[in-house]
Amino acid sequence: MMVNTALYFIIISVLYSGSSGHHNHINNFESTLGHLKPRSLPAVQAEAALMLIERTIGEKVSHFSVSVDPNLGPIGKDTFEIKKGSSEYQEIFITGTSGVAVTWGFHHYLKKHCNCQIAWEGEQIELPDILPDVNERITSNDRFRYYQNVCTTGYSSAWWGWDQWEKNIDWMALNGINLALAFHGQEAIWERVYLKMNLTSQEINQHFGGPAFLPWSRMGNIRGWGGLLSSSWHNHTIVLQHRILNRMRELGIIPVLPAFAGHVPRAFSRIYPHANMTKIGVWNQFDDQYCCPYLVSPTDPLFKIIGQKFLHEYINEFGTDHIYNCDTFNENEPVDTDTESLKMIGQAIYSAMTDVDPQAIWMMQGWLFVHEFDFWTESRVEAFITSVPLGKMIILDLQSEQFPQYMRFKSYFGQPFIWCMLHNFGGTLGMFGSARIISERVIEARNMEGSTMIGTGLTPEGINQNYVIYELMNEMAYRREPVNLDKWFENYSVRRYGGRNEYASQTWNILGKTIYNFIGLERIRGHYVITMRPKGNIKTWWWYDPELIIEAWGIFLNARNEKANKSLYRHDVVDITRQALQLIADEIYLSIKNAYAKNNSTLLRQQSELLVELFDDLERILDSSENFRLGKWLEAAKLLGTNEKERELYEYNARNQITLWGPNGEICDYANKQWAGVIVDYFKPRWVIFLKALQESVETKQILNQTLINQLIFEQVENPFTFSHKNYPVEPQGDSVLIAVELNNKWKNYKLHFIERKILRYERRMIVNKKTILT
Ligand SMILES: *[C@@H]1O[C@H](CO)[C@@H](O)[C@H](O)[C@H]1NC(C)=O
Ligand SMILES: *[C@@H]1O[C@H](CO)[C@@H](O)[C@H](O)[C@H]1NC(C)=O
Ligand SMILES: *[C@@H]1O[C@H](CO)[C@@H](O)[C@H](O)[C@H]1NC(C)=O
Ligand SMILES: *[C@@H]1O[C@H](CO)[C@@H](O)[C@H](O)[C@H]1NC(C)=O
Ligand SMILES: *[C@@H]1O[C@H](CO)[C@@H](O)[C@H](O)[C@H]1NC(C)=O
Ligand SMILES: *[C@@H]1O[C@H](CO)[C@@H](O)[C@H](O)[C@H]1NC(C)=O
Ligand SMILES: *[C@@H]1O[C@H](CO)[C@@H](O)[C@H](O)[C@H]1NC(C)=O
Ligand SMILES: *[C@@H]1O[C@H](CO)[C@@H](O)[C@H](O)[C@H]1NC(C)=O
Repeated sequence: MMVNTALYFIIISVLYSGSSGHHNHINNFESTLGHLKPRSLPAVQAEAALMLIERTIGEKVSHFSVSVDPNLGPIGKDTFEIKKGSSEYQEIFITGTSGVAVTWGFHHYLKKHCNCQIAWEGEQIELPDILPDVNERITSNDRFRYYQNVCTTGYSSAWWGWDQWEKNIDWMALNGINLALAFHGQEAIWERVYLKMNLTSQEINQHFGGPAFLPWSRMGNIRGWGGLLSSSWHNHTIVLQHRILNRMRELGIIPVLPAFAGHVPRAFSRIYPHANMTKIGVWNQFDDQYCCPYLVSPTDPLFKIIGQKFLHEYINEFGTDHIYNCDTFNENEPVDTDTESLKMIGQAIYSAMTDVDPQAIWMMQGWLFVHEFDFWTESRVEAFITSVPLGKMIILDLQSEQFPQYMRFKSYFGQPFIWCMLHNFGGTLGMFGSARIISERVIEARNMEGSTMIGTGLTPEGINQNYVIYELMNEMAYRREPVNLDKWFENYSVRRYGGRNEYASQTWNILGKTIYNFIGLERIRGHYVITMRPKGNIKTWWWYDPELIIEAWGIFLNARNEKANKSLYRHDVVDITRQALQLIADEIYLSIKNAYAKNNSTLLRQQSELLVELFDDLERILDSSENFRLGKWLEAAKLLGTNEKERELYEYNARNQITLWGPNGEICDYANKQWAGVIVDYFKPRWVIFLKALQESVETKQILNQTLINQLIFEQVENPFTFSHKNYPVEPQGDSVLIAVELNNKWKNYKLHFIERKILRYERRMIVNKKTILT
């Protein structure tokens, strides 16, 4: 997913600031959405929850008794109740409206009463000997907690096997998530459908993207790139999808399945020469070979035929829970512009679902309304989405924390929507987050006049960064008031590292007020100096005082005497060191620019050497953690190959996606990763080439030829990297804490004078500076 177009954010924010009121007229859409509920028997759900608890805490599961009672609380919401028994044998009773609700209650108890944390990057679960007393009952604010973006299967879970999926589903249930995308096996089913429709295998293979690029070939953005999918791949995804669906259904998570959106292989024009199809526009400069499949006009009879065949075949294989995701116009502007046509298109898409499943609910990502902001005017949106009966469509307001659309469209003209945090693009790393906005705006959206909000959601393109923000967002599913963030961040550090520590608390206090308090409208895409293709005019910027982050880095390391052996502490030591070094690299870059502008070759050489050294230090610290390694990603990809050819293809997919993203760097570095291995063999050598050219330019007084530099970088670094088979160890090297202390001593006094000067020019309201925090 990309944003290239200019958006009129100001308008959105002005509209937004006008929100007020507390007229929560309760329409929870029971009559249209009531059938979206767990289908497993309560006893099955309870059993699944108990097994999850056992996976989480081992034999201590014997202290927990669980039961599922769908009628425990108000209709259309989830409720859990946690009580401690009075007998000598300490027993915790958890009752919930579903398996998910029980698990959510269990996690709530662990978090709030036992100070534990179960995060993506590790866990801190040390239950006290005497389980704390508890008597608590919590009801969710809404019907749904939704999870995943169609891109997540590309950026994060492309290579996952069942082990990782099991953990992921456990994590969903622990956080109360009861509605989740389940998208595997699509291509396998499509292959069956297309073969029956007389396409040749070759024609089909030219259409599907490779394993790391499936989301975008599914959405019609690209075709064939990174393919050819083998039958063993199809087998793998079918088997995996069955296991995923079984587990979700046992726990009471409602899986959202794919439906036909209209994108078909080019070969359809051979078989249906008279069908009304349009070639989709070029996406991000992909060559014709890899872009632009056909879109069957939703109003052509063929649309229904294909849509029905697909859904039949898919449901035949996997069953259904009656909710389908379908995004026909995701980053593709419709050809038709008049409201009447848009209405007919909406009806056609929806009826292709209901013809097969009369109880179908259409779930649509609202990204198009942000991305094609100009096209999707109020009247067009109204015509399009109200063509489906009210309550039969659910819209994911996809990046509500930054570009909410529910105000502009008057709560989607009566269609229910889910408030989603789209916190990450491309699975890039870099600390950031909008804690205050999340804590306040979710509640405001629910309470606005005529609100049709029916849930909260997480829709990151990639996971595995900024866990703190996801945790806060998850809590907004039951919190009724804006959060006291000072307290909250402090509590977070207690749970994360197991017990209070003044340095850890202080660190999170600073982070919470600065880097995690972004309130601007800039599009954060993980593009920092070190991760970008080198050039002379990179725009660096900060929404906080960078010196505070360097300071927090030192403070955090002071917690090491007490916390050095906690795995989440070690993870965070690496992450904050990474962030600090990334910031210092920005500063060195500015100083390089300054030396160049002044033709001072001595200074230029000095600063260039420093930057190269920093890359080596960054590599070292990342290399010390299992969570920041290229090896892990590549080995997982290769593991899925059943022969040499597949292993090679998967490795190429894995390497290309996080670097060039396309054969020629079409969206180069969009999904970049600050990982050991990538730093040393990709980011650093690019800069070495650039810095050498700068030096030559100053010394020979010749102007810098950026075209030539880009060409060299592509030929000598980027392209070879994607085809390389170099092995990277999976095992971490060195002690993170010791390395971090050494690096902190080395770099902490590097003066951030350029950054300081720039920041003064930055809009003041966005900046939390040192004075306001440390005094
Ligand atoms: C596919 O080919 C068979 C055999 O030639 C033919 O009977 C059938 O109608 C074709 N199906 C489609 C959808 O064209
Ligand atoms: C795929 O699975 C089917 C059925 O389990 C099996 O017969 C077939 O050999 C598998 N194919 C590959 C390539 O693994
Ligand atoms: C073909 O589809 C396009 C796009 O939906 C539409 O504008 C056009 O009217 C259709 N043509 C016919 C002949 O139906
Ligand atoms: C922080 O933890 C304390 C003790 O468990 C609790 O009373 C308080 O509500 C928590 N505050 C927040 C904002 O979560
Ligand atoms: C960490 O663990 C090691 C090995 O178990 C132990 O020797 C060391 O003392 C521990 N350090 C701290 C700070 O607890
Ligand atoms: C640096 O050198 C260039 C090219 O020789 C020249 O145009 C420019 O004025 C010089 N700048 C300074 C600050 O000396
Ligand atoms: C170049 O930079 C060095 C190091 O900062 C400084 O000592 C020297 O005076 C500068 N030279 C000129 C000509 O400005
Ligand atoms: C810059 O390099 C490109 C590619 O090598 C070359 O075609 C072009 O002529 C060069 N431009 C200048 C101004 O030297």
